[in-house]
Amino acid sequence: MRVTNTRWYPKYHVAAPAAWINDPNSFVFYKGQYHLFAQHHPHSAQWGPMHWHHVVSDDLVHWKHLPIALAPTEDYERNGCFSGSGIEKDGRLYLFYTGHIDTPETEELGFRNVQNQCMAYSDDGINFTKYENNPIILVPEDEDSDVYGADFRDPKVWKHGDTYYMVVGAHTKDKLRGQIVLYESKDLYDWNFKSIMARGEGNQGFMWECPNLASVEGKDVLILSPQGIKRVGNKFMNVFQSGYFIGRLDYSSGIFKHGEFELLDYGFDFYAPQITQIPDGRTIMIGWLDMWYSPMKEDVDGWAGMMTVPREVHIKNGKVVTPPIKELEALRISEKSLENLLFYDEMKFDGIEGEVGELVMNIDLTETPAFEIDLRVGGEEKSVITYDDAIHLFKFNRDKAGEGGDGEREVKLPPYDKMKLQIFLDRSSVEIFINDGEYVMSSRIYPRSDSTGIKFIPVGGAFKIDSMTFYTLGEGIPQPRV
Ligand code: FRU
Repeated sequence: MRVTNTRWYPKYHVAAPAAWINDPNSFVFYKGQYHLFAQHHPHSAQWGPMHWHHVVSDDLVHWKHLPIALAPTEDYERNGCFSGSGIEKDGRLYLFYTGHIDTPETEELGFRNVQNQCMAYSDDGINFTKYENNPIILVPEDEDSDVYGADFRDPKVWKHGDTYYMVVGAHTKDKLRGQIVLYESKDLYDWNFKSIMARGEGNQGFMWECPNLASVEGKDVLILSPQGIKRVGNKFMNVFQSGYFIGRLDYSSGIFKHGEFELLDYGFDFYAPQITQIPDGRTIMIGWLDMWYSPMKEDVDGWAGMMTVPREVHIKNGKVVTPPIKELEALRISEKSLENLLFYDEMKFDGIEGEVGELVMNIDLTETPAFEIDLRVGGEEKSVITYDDAIHLFKFNRDKAGEGGDGEREVKLPPYDKMKLQIFLDRSSVEIFINDGEYVMSSRIYPRSDSTGIKFIPVGGAFKIDSMTFYTLGEGIPQPRV
C-alpha cells in the first residue's frame, strides 16, 4: 500500500504510513519512550484482518513508525489481533489483545471461544513473541457470569498494589446489556476471573467495547465505548459513543459503583480511547479520530484513520475534563497574536488563518451574545462553529466543510462569562477544546488544501475577544512520499 495523495494526510496526528488504522491500542511508557499501537489493516484502506501498527515517541508529539508489532499468524487469532493494552514489568513489555475468529466459523463453534484474550511480550520494545500458552483467558463458561462468547474483547491491564488487574469488554448472553469482566493476576501469565465489575442498565447500550480503568485525582474512572446507546434529543448522535463513569472500584469484591454515563467528546469522530499513566503521574488519553461507518474520504488516497492529539484526563466539579497536553506547544513554528478586539461586523485578520495550526481565543461572553467562527474557509467551503450565549448552545456544522460527511453536532454548556477556545486544525480534522477540555468536539472534515481562511462573525451584537493567537504547527508524523 502507498499513500498517493497527502491532501488530507495529517501533519502531526498519528496515522499509518499507508492503509487503514482504527482503535489506539497499548499506549504505554517503556524504557524511556512512549509507545502507541493501533488496530491496522496493512493491505487496504478498509478494515480487514487486524494487525497492530506501532509508533514511538520521546515527547508524545513527534512520532516515528516502527515495524508492525502483531500480525494474525496463529490459529487462535486467525481472523485478527483485536484491541488491547500494554504494561511493563521487570524490563519486559507485555501486550494483551483479543484473538479473534470470524463468523461463520463463530456459529460452527457455537458462539464459544471465538474471542479470547492473548498475550505477547518483548524485551526490546520492537520484536514481539506470542506467549506459547495463548490464549490466556477463555470466555467464562458458567451461567452466573452470563457472558456472550462471540463478543468478549479489548483487555486493558493495570497494576494496583502488588496485583495486576484486567478489564474485558463484553455483553450479556441475551446481547442486551454491556458489561465489564474483571480478572486478576500476580504475574501477568496466570489470570483468575474476579467479577462482573459493572453492567449497563437503561439506555447504556448493548455492548461495551474498549474498557479502561484509571485512578484519577482520588477517584476511579471507567472509560468505555458502548454500542447501542439511543439518541436522546441531540445527544448520542454518533453510531457508537465513548464516555466514562466516575466511581470507586472495591478491589476486594471487584464491584465498581459509579455515577452517570457521560460523553468524553461531542464531535462526529471520537472512539475507542486508550489511556496511560505516565511517570510524572498524569493520565493521558488518545482516541481514534473517526467513527465506524463514517465516510473516510481519504481511502481513495491509500490510507484511512487517524488518532486524536493526546489529552490529559482530570476531574473537575465531578466531571472528567480532557485538555490537550502542554507538550503540543513543541509543534508551534510561528505565531500571530491580537488583543482587545471588539467588532460588530464579520472580520478576517491577517496571519490568523491556515490549513495546519492551532487557534487559541479568549472570548468575553459578557459582551458577546452570540457568534460564528468559520474555519477552513475557501470558495464555498467552511466548517462552522456557532455559539448562542442565551441558550448556551455550542455547535459544529460540517455541511459545507468539503467532501464527505455533513451534519451538525452540539453541546449544551454551563453559563460562562469567559470562553477559552483552543482549536487544533490538521489537514482533515478539527478538535475544539472549550475552557481547557471541559467540553471537546473532534471531527474529520475533507476541505481543499487551499481552504485556509478563518472568519469571525458577531451575531446580534458585539464580538469581544480579549486575546487571540494563531500558531502554525509543524510536523509530528513522518510524511508519506508521493
Ligand atoms: C472498537 C473495536 C474493538 C475491536 C476492534 C476491532 O472500535 O470494535 O472492540 O477490538 O475495534 O478492530
